[in-house]
Amino acid sequence: MGEDGTKARHVAIIMDGNGRWAKKRHLPRALGHQRGVEAVRRLVRGARDFELEALTIYAFSTENWRRPDEEVSDLMALMKRFILSDLDEMAENGIRLKIIGDYKAFRPDVVELIEGALSRTAANTGTILAVALNYGAHDEIARAATKAAAKGAITPETIAAELDTADLPPLDLLIRTSGEERLSNFLLWQAAYCELYFTETLWPDFTADHLAQALESFTRRERRYGGR
Ligand code: IPE
Ligand code: IPE
Ligand code: MG
Repeated sequence: MGEDGTKARHVAIIMDGNGRWAKKRHLPRALGHQRGVEAVRRLVRGARDFELEALTIYAFSTENWRRPDEEVSDLMALMKRFILSDLDEMAENGIRLKIIGDYKAFRPDVVELIEGALSRTAANTGTILAVALNYGAHDEIARAATKAAAKGAITPETIAAELDTADLPPLDLLIRTSGEERLSNFLLWQAAYCELYFTETLWPDFTADHLAQALESFTRRERRYGGR
């Protein structure tokens, strides 16, 4: 329980440091990404124990297209492989998959696979795993504002109602691994009053224990929302 009596409902993670993890070991970057997927698998398997309503993970940003073609296609291939290998287990464990970001810009085969996974888990009622794909907060807010304007007045409420995260609980805790302390265009709107947690741990080394530590730190935060 938090100091204000609440428990984290929605946690987001900027999964950073795959490249440095590989570099430290003189291994190819692709292997760092592969081990990063294993870290995702570990957390998703443990998700039930944390009783989170939603876990949002940053997998591919609107800026990650700037990486070399080879790395982008490695990441796409890993994503496809993860869905193929882990969808059954996630579906059986009650996980509901959600995508935030403009994933329709991906290759048609990837889009098809994603949409199959979304419908496969749509009726599940356990933890929502929201994966940010081709996600950028600027893009998300611009899309939401456009939709809000088409319906009438632009207000904080009407924009929030059109964000990709509109159906998720408010963001409580945002974690970034690898020692970087920036948001890199992730959940800028939703982060307005969330708690931030930075750790030096590189993403492939991140375990359920690290998440437990972050959640424990959250319980000691006092949230004020500008009041007193
Ligand atoms: C995070 O690891 C994974 C993605 C951005 C897809 P990086 O690839 O950014 O790893 P570093 O930051 O170079 O170590
Ligand atoms: C943020 O990490 C994006 C993801 C984790 C998917 P980056 O490694 O791309 O961010 P910068 O470039 O260091 O800000
Ligand atoms: Mg990085």
